[in-house]
Amino acid sequence: MDYPLLEKATQVIQAAFPSARPAFAMILGSGWSDVAGAFHVRGELGYETIPGLGRTGVVGHAGKLLWGDLAGLETLIFQGRRHYYEGEGWTPVALPVFAMKHLGVRRLLLTNAAGGIRRDLVPGTLMILSDHINGMGVNPLVGPHHPHWGPRFPDMSHVYSSRLSTLLRKAGEELKLPISEGVYYAASGPSYETPAEIKAYRTLGADAVGMSTVPEAILARAAGIELAGLSCITNAAAGISTENLSHEEVTETTRQTMPLMKRLIQAYWSKLAELADR
Ligand code: HPA
Repeated sequence: MDYPLLEKATQVIQAAFPSARPAFAMILGSGWSDVAGAFHVRGELGYETIPGLGRTGVVGHAGKLLWGDLAGLETLIFQGRRHYYEGEGWTPVALPVFAMKHLGVRRLLLTNAAGGIRRDLVPGTLMILSDHINGMGVNPLVGPHHPHWGPRFPDMSHVYSSRLSTLLRKAGEELKLPISEGVYYAASGPSYETPAEIKAYRTLGADAVGMSTVPEAILARAAGIELAGLSCITNAAAGISTENLSHEEVTETTRQTMPLMKRLIQAYWSKLAELADR
């Protein structure tokens, strides 16, 4: 990881939003960008103007950092994410987490699009991450130890905060929106999985599969940020249905599910505003 570059990026963000004191942040994954429309936006910065972040080349990722608020909570919104499979190493992937920690963020929501492995996780289902399996074969904390990320060997027993997950569940109940829960398996991508791989992941205990989120979750947890994760199930994983997989299907499902995603985020932010220690 290029720490001088990460520090420079943080300074650029601070200079762009000098009065920002966000305690909350969100990273919007594939197809999630329009959720930002629920926020009152006070400032924005294109990813290409942030050193080390750069433009995201993936369709469905807007590539803007927004500073805004919802339910009275100042929030940094990373509208689009950089992925390990883009081949630029960990710096662009870790940058949002590094910068938000510097800016004082204490609570994070990670979102993504995922393929459903468990049969009930049909397209359009929203799934709270109860845990994850890092199947990327790499870990973003490999390299010289940097105190920013906490201890050398950070605990990962409770990556996803049970109290934040409860708030997400309650927000869903209020909206009469059934929300599922499950274990997310992160593969490196960018090729989709084979049916045999999906069978193997199911045996390992995975309920859904994607190509992101886990690196940021590891980094945020290590850095002491309380976090929750939310997947939009966009397709049945390979071999679960007979259809071939495509990114178009992923973005089309998120487009159709957007009204629910937006309402859930609004209801969740109202719940966050009730936290005694916010
Ligand atoms: N596999 C991996 N990543 C994904 C999928 C999938 O089926 N759907 C959306 N992102």
